[in-house]
Parts: sequence; C-alpha cells; structure tokens
Amino acid sequence: MRSFTGILLLLAASLVRPAKAQITLDTSSEDSIISACATIASGLMNYYHGNESGYTPGIFSGDYYWWESGAAWGSLIDYQFYTGDDQYNDLILNGMIFQVGDNWDYAPANQTSSLGNDDQGFWGLAAMQAAERNFTNPADDKPQWLALAQAVFNSIALVWGTDVCDGGVRWQKFVFNNGYDYKNSISNGILLQLGGRLARYTGNDTYADWAEKVWQWEEDTGLITSDYFVYDGASTDDDCATIDSIQWTYNMGVFMAGCAYMYNYTYENGNSTAADTWKTRLDGLIGTLHVFISDSTDIVYEPACEVSAACDVDQQSFKAYLARFMGLTIQVAPYTYDTLFPVIQASAAAAIATCSGGTDGVTCGYTWLTGAYDGSYGLGEQMAALEMTQQLMIAYGADVPYTNSTGGSSTGDASGGTKGTSADYTGDMTTKDKAGAWAITVVICLVVVLATVWCGMEGTMEGTKNLKEWIRLDDL
Ligand SMILES: *[C@@H]1O[C@H](CO)[C@@H](O)[C@H](O)[C@H]1NC(C)=O
Ligand SMILES: *[C@@H]1O[C@H](CO)[C@@H](O)[C@H](O)[C@H]1NC(C)=O
Ligand SMILES: *[C@@H]1O[C@H](CO)[C@@H](O)[C@H](O)[C@H]1NC(C)=O
Ligand SMILES: *[C@@H]1O[C@H](CO)[C@@H](O)[C@H](O)[C@H]1NC(C)=O
Ligand SMILES: *[C@@H]1O[C@H](CO)[C@@H](O)[C@H](O)[C@H]1NC(C)=O
Ligand SMILES: *[C@@H]1O[C@H](CO)[C@@H](O)[C@H](O)[C@H]1NC(C)=O
Ligand SMILES: *[C@@H]1O[C@H](CO)[C@@H](O)[C@H](O)[C@H]1NC(C)=O
Repeated sequence: MRSFTGILLLLAASLVRPAKAQITLDTSSEDSIISACATIASGLMNYYHGNESGYTPGIFSGDYYWWESGAAWGSLIDYQFYTGDDQYNDLILNGMIFQVGDNWDYAPANQTSSLGNDDQGFWGLAAMQAAERNFTNPADDKPQWLALAQAVFNSIALVWGTDVCDGGVRWQKFVFNNGYDYKNSISNGILLQLGGRLARYTGNDTYADWAEKVWQWEEDTGLITSDYFVYDGASTDDDCATIDSIQWTYNMGVFMAGCAYMYNYTYENGNSTAADTWKTRLDGLIGTLHVFISDSTDIVYEPACEVSAACDVDQQSFKAYLARFMGLTIQVAPYTYDTLFPVIQASAAAAIATCSGGTDGVTCGYTWLTGAYDGSYGLGEQMAALEMTQQLMIAYGADVPYTNSTGGSSTGDASGGTKGTSADYTGDMTTKDKAGAWAITVVICLVVVLATVWCGMEGTMEGTKNLKEWIRLDDL
C-alpha cells in the first residue's frame, strides 16, 4: 500500500515538475533584462521574512551579518528604479527605517557588539542611493534618506583618528570589538564615496574636502599604491607600517565610484585643477580593473578566493558592489562607458548563465567563470547577479543619480549623526578618555569573568555576546 502510494506520488511529481526554468538574457533587449532581473530579485526576496511575525524588519534571514542586509536594500532600490517594479517598495522602506537606531544613524543598539564603520557605511550607501533615486520618502516624523546618509557620513567622520597612523578610520566602531586595531580601505572608501556623493547632491564643499583628505591618507599610508592598487588595510599596532595587501573587488570599486563623483562635482563647478586630479585617480583605478577580470574574458571575478572556492558569505557578495559602483561611475563620468560597459555586458551574461540551480531552477550560483550553476547559493550570489544585470539598463536611458536640484526630493540634516561624540567610540582619545576606556575595559573584563564563573563554561560565549550588547560604552 505504502509503496504503491509512493510510486503514484513519484509519478505525479514527474508529471508536474516544470522544465528546467533557466533564466535567459538578451543583453540587447530591455524587456529581457527587466524580466531576468525580476526573476533574480524574486529569488533574493526569498531570503526576506522581515514582514512576517517572529522576524525583525530590515534583516534578511540566513547566516548573514547585519551589514549585508543594508547592502541588499541598496541593490533593491536600484532594482525598483531601473525596472519600475515597485512590488517590494513597502518592504524596502519599512525595513530600512526599522534599522535606523535610536540616533537615526544606522548604529542600532542591537549591532553594537560587532559594528564596523563599513557595516554602518553600507546602510548609509543604501540611504544615499534612496536619495539619489528619489525613492519614496518616509513619513515626515521619520528620518529622511538624505539625512540618514549625512548622519552615517558624520558618524564615520567623527571617528577619524590621528592618534595612530596619522589619520584614517578604524574598521570597528567600538574599542571592545575585534578589529578596532585595524584601519581598512572599505571603511575609509565609504567615507570618501559618501563625501563625493553628498557634495554632488547638496553642493556642500565640506564633504568634498573630506573626500580629498581620505584619498591623501590612503595614498600616504600605502593602502592605495602609486599604481592605484587598493590594498585591504593596515594594523594600528605598528602605526600602519604593516599592510594587508590582499585586493578585493569592492575596495577598488568603492574608490572608483567615489573618484567619479568627485571628478563630476569638481568639473561641473569649474574647478578644473581638482577635476584633473580626480580624473587621474579615476583612470588609475580603472586601469587596475584587470586584476578582477578573468584572463581573456571580460568577466569579473574575485581573485582572492573565487577560483579556490574559499570565499566566505561576506565575500560572496562583493562583486555586487563592484557592479553597482561601475554603474554609478558610468553615470557620473560618462567617458568611462566604453571601458566599463563591455565588462558589465560580459559579466551579466556569464552571471545569468549560472542561474539554473535550486528547486526553482533559477537560483544563481557564485562563480561566473564556468558557464553553469556551481551548487553555491545565497543572498550574496543573488545580489551579485542582480546588480550586474540591472546595470545593463544604463544603456536604455536610465536617469543619472539625482541631486537636490535635478529631481531629488529627500530632505537633509547636516548635523545628523553627531549626537554621539568621538569619545563614545574612543576614536580620538585624550588621556582622560584613555583612562576612562581602561576603566571600562577592566569593568567589562571583571563582569565577563564573574559571568563566566557564574554561568559555567557552557554559557560563556553566549554570555559574553549578551554582555557586550548590554554594556554599551555610552551607557557607562
Ligand atoms: C511579506 O511580503 C511578501 C512580499 O511582498 C508578501 O508576499 C507576504 O504576503 C508578506 N507577508 C506578510 C505577513 O505581510
Ligand atoms: C533588536 O533585537 C531584538 C531581539 O532580537 C528584536 O526584537 C528587535 O526588533 C531588534 N531591533 C532592531 C532594530 O533590530
Ligand atoms: C578645487 O578643489 C580643491 C580640492 O577639492 C580645493 O582644495 C580647492 O579649494 C578648490 N578650488 C576652488 C577654486 O574651489
Ligand atoms: C556629470 O554628470 C552628468 C550626469 O550624468 C553628466 O551629464 C555630465 O557629463 C558629467 N560631467 C562630466 C564632466 O563627466
Ligand atoms: C521625486 O519625488 C517627488 C515626491 O514624490 C516628486 O514630486 C518628484 O516629481 C520626483 N522627481 C522625479 C525626478 O521623479
Ligand atoms: C535643496 O537645497 C536647498 C538649499 O539648501 C533647500 O532650500 C531645498 O529645500 C532643498 N531641496 C530639497 C528638495 O530638499
Ligand atoms: C556642510 O556640511 C558640514 C558637514 O556636515 C556642515 O557642518 C555644514 O553645516 C554644512 N553646510 C551647510 C550650508 O549646510
């Protein structure tokens, strides 16, 4: 009886199973691009349950750090802009507003135990994207997109520290987190790029001055070489003398788009000396794109980990940001189109060729170099394929990022994100602050030791994590 039912079920399943649904893409057809993007975006949204009971709005499900959710909202804002598909707009708006935190600066209390300036920065980039794409404005009593981007910019600029390495922003925001002793290119690159974008959007030169300062520091430190290679970061233990020279797609990309904005901003303001300088930097960075392109193809890949299949979940999403940043670069520095667009075309086609996995038959894989689904799946894989493919819409007359005077309608607040002080994060520490920080560290250690003894060994990890969330530096 059982086996007979089983056979019937199998038979039924084989009859209703759809033919492999593999996405097709004609890169020269607007309809085909939009339809491919819709399928990938729907796969991406399979990871989102934030509007269902028991889940937290704004956060994607799965083993992903908080920052990647912010990055995903940035992808979806461009998705709705490029394709006109507004079915996810309420989810985007509600999710992004839920995560702003008490100070409206994307440093929510829940994330204190691992908040990097880059983590906060990716949410800030999504808010900037919302302002530049004229995305639906939140209700008047809620924080506005431009104000949020300014708040994140201010909050990162606030922890610029000359106490060590002659400047630069550290990776982690809080002194008690692993990574506080590292100054990295992505945190500083986001500060530069937000600076360029805010300068162009608002016309306020202060942001442009910051972009210049960040570039100088990256060069002086050797994180950007004379050949324009962008290295990952440097340890504060030896005053940034030891550099981690690994190269990632998103590090180059974040500076590339930042330089493109600065080039556009300075040129359009008649500052030809500065425009020449920024163009030289932009050209230099684009000259290193070959590092991230597989030999004899125009296909983007992640040289540091892709071929050895060693990319972690964070790294699996990095190509998404290079894609987005190439698109922005073309939009604000149109002379780069001939160099960058063929890379987008070849990479999008290669990405789509991997989107034949999973039970739905349209799940995208990670590596785009094999021409087939590689068994890998996740938020980063979907995001990267979506970002690369939707950039093709640039060729179909997509509007360039708006500014305050060309169609953007978001309201700003130049003082956002300054509610805290640098001492809250111990960015630039005075002797008094240092003594305070020591006292706090000692207190935290004591409490952790006591809690460990109290909870027993089994509870240690969880206890430490909860304590970190509970003891916020600014509460002490
Ligand atoms: C959550 O959003 C998705 C996509 O818009 C929708 O299909 C689903 O019904 C929503 N769930 C709830 C509980 O609102
Ligand atoms: C913070 O975490 C709690 C518990 O997990 C959750 O209920 C709350 O919604 C979270 N808040 C934010 C802003 O994520
Ligand atoms: C041109 O831009 C540079 C770098 O941003 C700045 O230092 C300089 O003051 C600007 N010059 C003018 C005339 O605005
Ligand atoms: C600045 O951006 C606008 C909008 O994309 C573009 O029309 C203009 O040509 C750009 N300026 C330069 C110097 O590329
Ligand atoms: C931007 O949004 C505002 C408010 O919805 C609207 O009035 C304006 O027309 C939009 N701008 C563009 C360029 O679509
Ligand atoms: C643009 O900026 C001007 C000057 O700062 C301001 O008066 C105006 O309200 C802004 N426009 C928008 C749409 O925010
Ligand atoms: C320009 O931006 C700076 C930095 O956030 C801010 O202090 C200043 O008030 C802004 N100026 C104007 C006119 O908005």
